[in-house]
Amino acid sequence: MGPEDTRRNVAFADNTVGQEETEAVLAVLRSGWLSADREVRSFEEEFAAAAGAEDSVFVSSGTAALHLAVLALGLRPGDEVIMPSLSFVSAAEVCALHGITPVFADIVSEEDLTVSAADIERLLTPRTRAVVVMHYGGHAAGVEDVVALAERHGLRVIEDSAHAPLVRRPGGMLGTIGDIGCFSFFATKNLTTGEGGMVLARQPELLSQVRSMRSHSIDGSSRSRTASGSAGYDIASVGLNYRPTELAAAIGRVQLAKLHNDRVHRGRIVATYRRDLAHIPDLGVPFAGRTDEPAAHHLFPVLLPPGHDRERIRDRLRSAGVPTSVHYPPTHLMTYYRHGAPEADGLRDATAGREHLPHTEAVADRMLSLPLHAKLDTSDAAYVAVRLSEALAAEGAGA
Ligand SMILES: Cc1ncc(COP(=O)(O)O)c(C=O)c1O
Repeated sequence: MGPEDTRRNVAFADNTVGQEETEAVLAVLRSGWLSADREVRSFEEEFAAAAGAEDSVFVSSGTAALHLAVLALGLRPGDEVIMPSLSFVSAAEVCALHGITPVFADIVSEEDLTVSAADIERLLTPRTRAVVVMHYGGHAAGVEDVVALAERHGLRVIEDSAHAPLVRRPGGMLGTIGDIGCFSFFATKNLTTGEGGMVLARQPELLSQVRSMRSHSIDGSSRSRTASGSAGYDIASVGLNYRPTELAAAIGRVQLAKLHNDRVHRGRIVATYRRDLAHIPDLGVPFAGRTDEPAAHHLFPVLLPPGHDRERIRDRLRSAGVPTSVHYPPTHLMTYYRHGAPEADGLRDATAGREHLPHTEAVADRMLSLPLHAKLDTSDAAYVAVRLSEALAAEGAGA
């Protein structure tokens, strides 16, 4: 019996929050001020420095970051924004909320699950104003090609870097190559603040607009108003309350310092998976060829051999102590985005008939995300690989 044979309970996702984060949060609690202030500013400065950017704006979620990006870029009702269907719904919903039409593009291939620049080109219309690129699972999308295309057509580029904090490319870190980069620090992300998001922008004016809109476009900070007892303020534009807390920033600063080591560890897990899954017949392992490219290794998706019942495989794995997930059910097949909402005729008209995405649809029912996080052991990954191989063999035999 090898170590992989003993029953384990593997967590699907986990974080590295521990004693240091606890102490940082306690210090904030004792400080007497919990809303955005000095910790937030320090986290922004540290994140920006690590990303090689001038500055950054910390907000309350990745969705808030994308929402502020759409608003700061001046996207308006009737505009179209091309984005991957194989992503979380945030980019689509922040557009749809404003009557901006999300137009869904295909992935490159079964090996590369990031959005295809060629498909983006196919979907351009005179109403296209912007493109969202998502670095799926922490692997770089072809953002340089998309930026070149955007320059030719006068479009703006948003990088949804929710999966890819501080991943280096020849042209800079992911999130700094397009016009605006948006990050998420949700509980399962590589760097977590519980909830939180970050915005980077190439143009300082864009970032200062994001900073202002994060807090109602009100002049001055709420802390200085509270401290001075000032009753007057002015509002020069629309905004929202997307401010983060000092507590989140305190966690983020510690998490940022841990990110590099956590990433190296995730890379070891990925290498183990790639080695141990390579022998399973007809199992697709996207991005397996990208051995030398920096990646955040946020997710580890596999493509089940065609014809398998994914839910039955998932049940078998669950019984063996291996939880799995799916990233993502394609957005263009979701009820709202498939038919358009009753109140959004523009959305229905603009999306109808443009929605056959052959590569995305070919992988949709075969995708399975395996456990991946910085607390996983390489022997856990070996265990998962054995259990997946067994589940496939059992299903194949029983089918
Ligand atoms: C690709 C992607 N975009 C956007 C988001 C939204 O981030 P948040 O959950 O912090 O709002 C997430 C995470 O959930 C995501 O995975």
